[in-house]
Amino acid sequence: MADRVKGKIALLFGGGQTPGETIGNGRATAILLAREGAIVGVVDRDIVSAQDTVAMIESEGGQAWAIAADVVAEEDVAAAVQACLQRHGRIDILHNNVGASLALGDAPATELEVPAFDRLYQVNLRGMWLACKHALPAMRQQGSGSIVNISSMAAWENYPYVGYKTTKAGVIALTQNLAASNAEHGVRANVILPGLMNTPMAIEARVAAGTPREEVIAGRNARVPLGRKMGSAWDVAYASLFLHSDEAQFITGVALPVDGGRNVG
Ligand SMILES: NC(=O)c1ccc[n+]([C@@H]2O[C@H](COP(=O)([O-])OP(=O)(O)OC[C@H]3O[C@@H](n4cnc5c(N)ncnc54)[C@H](O)[C@@H]3O)[C@@H](O)[C@H]2O)c1
Repeated sequence: MADRVKGKIALLFGGGQTPGETIGNGRATAILLAREGAIVGVVDRDIVSAQDTVAMIESEGGQAWAIAADVVAEEDVAAAVQACLQRHGRIDILHNNVGASLALGDAPATELEVPAFDRLYQVNLRGMWLACKHALPAMRQQGSGSIVNISSMAAWENYPYVGYKTTKAGVIALTQNLAASNAEHGVRANVILPGLMNTPMAIEARVAAGTPREEVIAGRNARVPLGRKMGSAWDVAYASLFLHSDEAQFITGVALPVDGGRNVG
């Protein structure tokens, strides 16, 4: 155990994981925050997956607990925040990781259906705002807190599907709004834009759609300038750890690509 976020109380939405061969961004971030001394509340719609994350943390000697919540339901989000406050009396770190694209029926503009667009908005953008809405009063009262929202390089790149691109762009605007309106309360808000990552969320849907795994991986690797290799969930986790730690105490409102140089390549 090191102590970059020692004693901090973290609440992480989307801390379970899509099943697959590698580790996801949310789970890796939960594990790393716990390794560095935080107590982590792992929130997920899939309670079994959240409990698996908790078990991994506890097996390393870290502290974590799990709670079920669907970020589409405001009462679920509010209950998860209240559970954290009842247990610990504070929230130092709010990490919003929930997000999906193809799994929610995303498509190009002429093919996207209204129910799918609405669902993408509810899961990817409205859910993050709801978590912030309910956690911010406690953070303001404390006079401190760190929020990290997970967007995507899809917000800035040429990305074919409308729901993911627009909601992930919205996450950046949401974070800028939160940073500006909460700086006077000592609360920081930053947003991470992962690029091409070797995570189950990114790989498994494409494999399930029929492309051989090696082809999916090779195709994505080839598009990354830095070393011609995708990043891993640990790259997102380490960026998140830094932004949540006091090392980043003067950093707020930042949109940080974690993308192996694709945004400049
Ligand atoms: N993996 C990538 O390549 C990549 C790239 C860019 C951005 N991102 C972003 O990273 C985040 C997720 O990464 P990951 O690797 O942890 O994905 P993941 O799919 O492994 O984990 C997401 C978790 O969110 C949970 N979830 C889904 N819908 C939910 C809901 N409505 N309420 C509560 N929980 C819900 C899932 O059960 C899952 O455990 C997303 O915001 C995604 O857009 C990922």
